Amino acid sequence: MYEKLYEQITDALVTDGYIVIDNALNALLCTELLQLAKCSNKYKNAGVSTASAIDKSRRRDKISWIDADAEATKKYLAFTTGLQNYLNRHLYLGLRYYEAHFACYEVGDFYEKHLDAFKNSKNRVVTTVYYLNDSWGDADGGKLVIYDKEGKELQKVTPNANTLVVFMSENFPHEVLPAKKTRYSIAGWFRVDKDKK
Ligand code: OGA
Ligand code: NI
Repeated sequence: MYEKLYEQITDALVTDGYIVIDNALNALLCTELLQLAKCSNKYKNAGVSTASAIDKSRRRDKISWIDADAEATKKYLAFTTGLQNYLNRHLYLGLRYYEAHFACYEVGDFYEKHLDAFKNSKNRVVTTVYYLNDSWGDADGGKLVIYDKEGKELQKVTPNANTLVVFMSENFPHEVLPAKKTRYSIAGWFRVDKDKK
């Protein structure tokens, strides 16, 4: 059912290493996911864990891990499972599982420039970010900025409902600019190590 989309993502990962797609999935599914994101009572401070404490100077969002316990998350995970299989079939990436969480950025929250995976660590290979926010304007901040390896800015992404971003985790530093209103997304990663769950 998502064949065209899978093909589009796969081609872009080969040629550019990343892609930003507006109106990616079903708009109603996006609305359902937003309701779940708003209602989840499992949010924890994300932070960047150092030895013991959470460093809130680098990352301020709150996250809630996703599983297939609701119709909407089941549907979203069906989409990502299909993508995983397609990428494995066409690019031989050997992706073994997908992990994803809702993220909530309150006013002022941000995520400093970072990589989702480090060269040769080979656990997170492909990143997905799916946005859930209705009518997000320029004045609302919270854009995702994607850079290339040399630090050149490639694209600023408005975190609008139903926009999907996919990129090779090791190759694209990125940051989330401070949000000026509450911002919801689903960040996820295809991994090649063994599922720890
Ligand atoms: C992440 C991340 C981007 C976003 O969680 O690693 O970079 O736009 N998220 O939410
Ligand atoms: Ni990231």
